Amino acid sequence: MTGRYNVLVIGGGGREHALVWKLRQSPLLGKIFCAPGNGGISAIAGTFSLPPGFAGLKKIVEEKDIDLIIVGPEQPLAEGITDYFEKEGVRIFGPGRKAAMLEGSKVFAKNFMKKYSVPTADFEVFDDRKKAEEYLKAKKDPVIKADGLCAGKGVILSGSFDEGSDALKKFMEDRIFGAAGERVVIEDRLKGEEASILVFVSGENYSFMVPSQDHKAVYEGDKGPNTGGMGAYAPTSLVNDSVMKRIEDRIMKPVLGGLASEGIGYSGVLYLGLMVESGDPRVLEFNVRFGDPETEVVLPMMKNDLLEAVLSLMNEEKAGLSWKGGACLDVVLASEGYPGEYKKGVKIDIRQDAIPEDVMIFHAGTVIKDGGIYTSGGRVLNVAATGDDIEDAREKVYGALAGINFEGMYYRGDIGWKELLRKKR
Ligand code: AMP
Ligand code: GLY
Repeated sequence: MTGRYNVLVIGGGGREHALVWKLRQSPLLGKIFCAPGNGGISAIAGTFSLPPGFAGLKKIVEEKDIDLIIVGPEQPLAEGITDYFEKEGVRIFGPGRKAAMLEGSKVFAKNFMKKYSVPTADFEVFDDRKKAEEYLKAKKDPVIKADGLCAGKGVILSGSFDEGSDALKKFMEDRIFGAAGERVVIEDRLKGEEASILVFVSGENYSFMVPSQDHKAVYEGDKGPNTGGMGAYAPTSLVNDSVMKRIEDRIMKPVLGGLASEGIGYSGVLYLGLMVESGDPRVLEFNVRFGDPETEVVLPMMKNDLLEAVLSLMNEEKAGLSWKGGACLDVVLASEGYPGEYKKGVKIDIRQDAIPEDVMIFHAGTVIKDGGIYTSGGRVLNVAATGDDIEDAREKVYGALAGINFEGMYYRGDIGWKELLRKKR
């Protein structure tokens, strides 16, 4: 591959900061932009606000002479950003609107898995609240999922009939998520341990990234409500070679076969959210993008030039990925109250001299104002480090936290705990 590529990353979280950080290491990179970006990204890329429509964005793409767009979040993918720019002849990495239904509609994803025999929890679909309640009565601990995109808030793990019935009322009658909750999936609760696998996909080509584990619950010991993710590590030994082989044979191949049979092309990252029980993987969810915070631990482990890998993939060539040894761990520093209500605009102090050089800070909800850094979201900063092993990476990350402070800063002190337990056994 030769030449220089001006790249635009869409999004403004820790995932996009990690993408920009990694892309900047490529000798193939020309200029780099990120929209809307955040406080940390604005120090290493040109940032601008996203205009409301794709046509407005196309104008900026032309002005800035952008050769490649890489899409972070699911929303623009579900809205068809890829279809739009492909039609306009602009290279864009991320699946089209149809393929994005794998994340954008739980009903579509579940029916797809059933049709192509991809292992997942048994389920039923309802658009009638009374019928859904009847079904709920017969189930112990079911999981209720709003069909559409709900920014991670549309999944209820109900512990009792009343809790489940309350969720159905909120989704289907109060319509707290609008049309996204008109239909629901009710599925059986799966047991086991979760893992995330990001896969580069282009047509029939695919390359697995290193398996990681997110920590979705807000409190230590995986207690409390689910968040976007409070920390992650990679690789996870939960996904050993034999589990990986099963993921490939039982999940990845049928998914790609299914997409081909449905005439749906896929170019981008497919995220397999898995539950692994006694070595058997089942799909909890698909995402049609890089995970957050998984990306913050996966990209630091990648030896390849990310830009080259993406370009190869888009030319229908295999990405041929290779990975560093050791481990990477990431801790999310959140605003007190998240995933519920929290304060914004809180000043953040980062004492650079107290942060070792090999510790990375990926910003999420931050803005720069008058030369200072302020909070602007629930997940504020990611602190990540690679190390010889998970213990080493953990020590570096937690050690660096002494150099960071903001009022109401909250984080989990136990990121990686399941891996540490597994290693002791
Ligand atoms: P989803 O968006 O479908 O992945 O759901 C979000 C989170 O809810 C998952 O990461 C799991 O922690 C949990 N979850 C979803 N479905 C199930 C299930 N069938 N059994 C157990 N946990 C689940
Ligand atoms: N970490 C979960 C997600 O990216 O959806």
